[in-house]
Amino acid sequence: MSSPDNGNGKREQWKSRWGLILAMAGNAIGLGNFLRFPVQAASNGGGAFMIPYFVSLALLGIPLMWIEWGIGRYGGTLGHGTAPGMFDAMWKSRGAKYVGILGVFLPLVVLVYYIFICSWTLAFSVFSGLGMYPLPGEGVSALSTQAYLAPYRTYLYDFIGAAGSGRFFSPTPVAYFFFIITLGFGIWILAKGVSAGIEVLNKIAIPALFAIGFILFIRVLTLASPTGTDTAGAEKGLAFLWEPDFSGLTSAKVWLAAAGQVFFTLSLGMGAIMTYASYVKKDEDIALDGLTTAGLNEFAEVIFGSTIAITSAVIFFGVDGARLIADDGAFSLGFISMPAIFSHMRLGQFFGFIWFLLLFFAGITSVVALAQPAVAFFEDEFGWSRRKSVTILGVFFFISAHLPMLVKGSLDELDFWAATLGLVVLSLFEVIIFFWIFGSKKAWEEMTRGAHIKIPRVFYYIMKYVTPAILIVILAAWSYEQLPAVLAKTDLGVWAARIFLALVLLVHVIAVRAAWKKRRRQ
Ligand code: ALA
Repeated sequence: MSSPDNGNGKREQWKSRWGLILAMAGNAIGLGNFLRFPVQAASNGGGAFMIPYFVSLALLGIPLMWIEWGIGRYGGTLGHGTAPGMFDAMWKSRGAKYVGILGVFLPLVVLVYYIFICSWTLAFSVFSGLGMYPLPGEGVSALSTQAYLAPYRTYLYDFIGAAGSGRFFSPTPVAYFFFIITLGFGIWILAKGVSAGIEVLNKIAIPALFAIGFILFIRVLTLASPTGTDTAGAEKGLAFLWEPDFSGLTSAKVWLAAAGQVFFTLSLGMGAIMTYASYVKKDEDIALDGLTTAGLNEFAEVIFGSTIAITSAVIFFGVDGARLIADDGAFSLGFISMPAIFSHMRLGQFFGFIWFLLLFFAGITSVVALAQPAVAFFEDEFGWSRRKSVTILGVFFFISAHLPMLVKGSLDELDFWAATLGLVVLSLFEVIIFFWIFGSKKAWEEMTRGAHIKIPRVFYYIMKYVTPAILIVILAAWSYEQLPAVLAKTDLGVWAARIFLALVLLVHVIAVRAAWKKRRRQ
């Protein structure tokens, strides 16, 4: 079934290879690289986190990246841009399309909170540009880390209405305004389509992101301790992450955090890479493109993300202070400690502006990537026009984002089911369906067709045996370690999120049933 979305009865395609690679990089590079990674690394021991992280990258991240490109391209040639159709084509079972629902459902759920967070970055960039932020710097030497950061925390909490102990947030009208702008911009890009919208956005945003990342990277490496008593500066900050520390190898918690980060940062197990790959040409060199995507993402994450956020925090607040900030939650490094550091610099306003702009570029390019599976599902499986698909999606996001925006506790619950557990489950299905049901020889052929580089044969065995085995262990460990605690939570936000998830899942099941019924009739 072909979607009529480019007006001539054919599915859209990326216009250029360079555009495709930048779009895929934009898909992967997101808030996860600059906010989630530094927090995960710092709160899991710095250097102790990095070895499990790189092992996970080699045994899970890169293999799954190739698998998703392979499944995506295969599905695209059959007119399917999402997992329900792709799995159905590879696995002749009535259940395949229902399992594939995860490839549309998970990115949708992530976006329910991700768009709102992305809108904060735009707001803070504008505030910095206008000179309203960062706040005037205070002397660090006289204050403890927490006291120094307190005004910044208050600023963020006031903005999103998180102060107070009630069950609800009360975001400011300004926060609401930036949410609408961000959502509207994302929808506008999606409405323009894959090559005229998403590809063009990434061709501008990703090079700009790397340029800004480079400027901030250099600035941080030349940063001195604000107290003037410690001259170790960047060296100490870099050592925190890069001095090998083998203690993490024996900690299940560190391994789980590292593997989870690899999934999230590469957008794996979310359906988004498969959907983008469904728009590539039949003989595209996906082996090289997949590797390039992972490489660009890792560069942005471990070189820029870590150095900018962690090294600067260690220089300013010491190792203990940086840990304390990271333990405080996902937003404290990006929204609280970074502006506090900028306030102490010359041209702090400018650096604040570009830091938040970098976050916005990272975030918005992932927003459109995570939304595209739903657009592709409507277009490919229902034959809807892009305009209709995008409009319905915009209304859905507008309404559903109010849940994390207003109800405390719901964001973490959505994040757990979709971005912690869900993506491991979908990844496991992908490997099993592609390598074990569709067939490992055919799968290997799909991934390597048109390739100018040779994927080392050892990856065949890794993908067939090692990757699924690790995924099963992760799933078991997560279920054992985290599930009881998650299930024991009963507050309002948690229940609201669970009911929301159940309803959205039900709608997906009904939609898939209806789409396949329609197909049978045609
Ligand atoms: N991969 C995207 C990120 O890192 C979702 O934010």
